[in-house]
Amino acid sequence: MKPTDFTPLEGVNRKHLQQHFSQAAPSYDEAAILQKTVAERVEERLQLTKLDIKHLADIGAGTGLLTEKLQRLYPQAHLYAVDFSLPMLQTARQRLEPKGMARSVLKNWLPHTLLPQTRLHLVNADAYQLPFADGSLDLLTSNLMLQWCDDLDSVFREFRRVLRPNGMLMFTSFGPDTLKELRRAWHQADPEQTHVNHFIDMHDLGDALIRAGFGQPVMDVEHFTLTYDQPMGVLRDLKAIGATHAAANRSRGLMGKARFQAMLNAYEQARHDSKIPATYEVVHGHAWASREILKGPNRDRSGLVEISLETFAKQTQQKHRP
Ligand SMILES: C[S@@+](CC[C@H](N)C(=O)[O-])C[C@H]1O[C@@H](n2cnc3c(N)ncnc32)[C@H](O)[C@@H]1O
Repeated sequence: MKPTDFTPLEGVNRKHLQQHFSQAAPSYDEAAILQKTVAERVEERLQLTKLDIKHLADIGAGTGLLTEKLQRLYPQAHLYAVDFSLPMLQTARQRLEPKGMARSVLKNWLPHTLLPQTRLHLVNADAYQLPFADGSLDLLTSNLMLQWCDDLDSVFREFRRVLRPNGMLMFTSFGPDTLKELRRAWHQADPEQTHVNHFIDMHDLGDALIRAGFGQPVMDVEHFTLTYDQPMGVLRDLKAIGATHAAANRSRGLMGKARFQAMLNAYEQARHDSKIPATYEVVHGHAWASREILKGPNRDRSGLVEISLETFAKQTQQKHRP
């Protein structure tokens, strides 16, 4: 595998994805500059909300960058850090669980009421199949995981299922401008193949939320540009956070090397003020689990019912006929 391919989402092989993230667990924190900044932004947004949170989950928690902030924000709550990569969760544990010594010192010297009370649970599970009962959580967060999910409808339906009515989902994901310089460079060097994700637009994310039974979705985007000395720096960081894709049928050997070099040369054209830019479009979203999931014939699990425009027109005409 070349260190250059940034997962094309169509037909994502989840097993490969999981392996990549697991391999990246030891190098993740050092390279995850953007993820840290975005986790801070999510924390700021949560600070503005007044929610009574007893049970919450951070989905795709990784090494716990956002989970750590949730621990501070909701010290009395049951907090579930969910990830399908066990090594990621093992790294998260080191960050999130008070060290043995520190804990026993705290216990001896601090009054009970001042001890960190968060009940932290590390959960090795897939976002598509969460091990929580229907309506059991007050808040779900997810920082920069959803861009790895190729079936958003299923994931959002699962999120909706585990949230209580009026529970909140707050997430971030990547939008279409993300890594546009790398995408352009690859397109010049190898127009036949997709090497970089096509990330989902915020309007499509909003539509998927509605389809899954969420109400009042609010979305906005924020652009970040990381700068590097060389194009290879961008690729190294992507690899260090696990953002690579194992596609067995990728061209290898001499031809592959030549294309790779052509891509690096093409990326040079983006150099600006002597630096190589890497743009990230971060989509912020939040939405509420609608109070009622309508049930009845023709409705799917989220309560939506699909009818043709023709039928819709007939029904509404009948309704309004005197
Ligand atoms: C880019 S990292 C973000 C981690 C963390 N939220 C942060 O802000 O640093 C994406 C994480 O999502 C996890 N992930 C990706 N797809 C997943 C899925 N379907 N179910 C559970 N975890 C998933 C990966 O293992 C990885 O730890």
